Amino acid sequence: MVHTRPQIDKISMYSPGKPVEELKREKGLSRIVKMASNENPFGYSPLAAEAIRAEMKEIPLYPEVTSPLLAEKLANKLGVSPNQIVFGNGSDEIIRLLTRTYINEGDEVVMARVTFPRYKPNVIIEGGVPVEVKMLEGGRHDLTEMAAAINEKTKMVFVCNPNNPTGTIVDKASLKEFIQQVPSHVLLVMDEAYYEYADSDEYLETLPLLHQHKNMVVLRTFSKVYGLAGLRVGYGLMDAEMVKALHKVKEPFNVNRLAQAAASASLDDDEFLHESIRLNQQGREYLIQQFKEMKLDYFKSQTNFIMVDIAAPAEEVYEFLLNLGVIIRPGHLMGYPTMIRVTIGEQKDNHYFIDGLKAYLENYRMNEKEVKSDEHA
Ligand SMILES: Cc1ncc(COP(=O)(O)O)c(C=O)c1O
Repeated sequence: MVHTRPQIDKISMYSPGKPVEELKREKGLSRIVKMASNENPFGYSPLAAEAIRAEMKEIPLYPEVTSPLLAEKLANKLGVSPNQIVFGNGSDEIIRLLTRTYINEGDEVVMARVTFPRYKPNVIIEGGVPVEVKMLEGGRHDLTEMAAAINEKTKMVFVCNPNNPTGTIVDKASLKEFIQQVPSHVLLVMDEAYYEYADSDEYLETLPLLHQHKNMVVLRTFSKVYGLAGLRVGYGLMDAEMVKALHKVKEPFNVNRLAQAAASASLDDDEFLHESIRLNQQGREYLIQQFKEMKLDYFKSQTNFIMVDIAAPAEEVYEFLLNLGVIIRPGHLMGYPTMIRVTIGEQKDNHYFIDGLKAYLENYRMNEKEVKSDEHA
């Protein structure tokens, strides 16, 4: 028997949202609505499609190592230098590169509980120690407690803003204060995978702070609003010295040719971007109005998903909706046994989901009533 490194026993396999193909095979359903992985239901830019077709003839050749054309374009758009950007096979890869490059055995890494589930295993793999700080009411990061958790053993802090799975943001003033409190030898990772969807005045623009805080990294992705999740392109914005370090660690050809071309072309299509954001807002308003009418509590979302408390077992509603062909994310997997996380879909799919949820809740509430009246009898 060949033994793994001992830390591998401490982590479990990532449990993704159920793939559409799998549910089709299992249930023989024709209509499947995936509202589980915060993908863009409105597709991706036609300019990206064109760029992919054009790039296909280059497939026999390895891609460029630092995605220089994409870096140049993105840098211009964001007002940073191209040598401040590292591209990854999704921003997932940047998380891994950061822990690979910076975490020593025993280093502590502060993060919220509950947040994006890829931080913790990557820290553990490197022999680091995740320090999870309980969230405030309403599913928000407790930045006061997170600052208090930083000590001489701390090497890294993750702030997921907006946060997955709760969809919430941290307010401007608290975040500004927190950034000042993180010591310069601690790496502060601001995960902004849902940046483009956040429209609150309370959402802090972190990029202008990068030059003052050389210990800060901002993560963004083409997987969400740009609709390129299947191609895998994400990036980290950081000090140029840090970029050099990450480039030593990353696989040279980590972002494939089609991904580089599609991401680059996507940056030319503001119309697609704005339309995706507008339709998402419309869907978000519709779902929130429905939740209010159904008297369900929900976390305030600044993203393309909402976490709602159905006051019933999440596992049960998950199964019920699966039978209708609707895939959502049940909260019991994330420590919220009566909540579900639903990705905002196309309007017809939002309606279909709400109809399913209403049917489930009607049934559940009736059964509850019957149990209660039996108890009284
Ligand atoms: C908060 C957050 N960060 C990072 C990612 C990773 O995205 P990707 O690797 O597709 O760029 C996700 C994906 O769901 C996410 O929700």
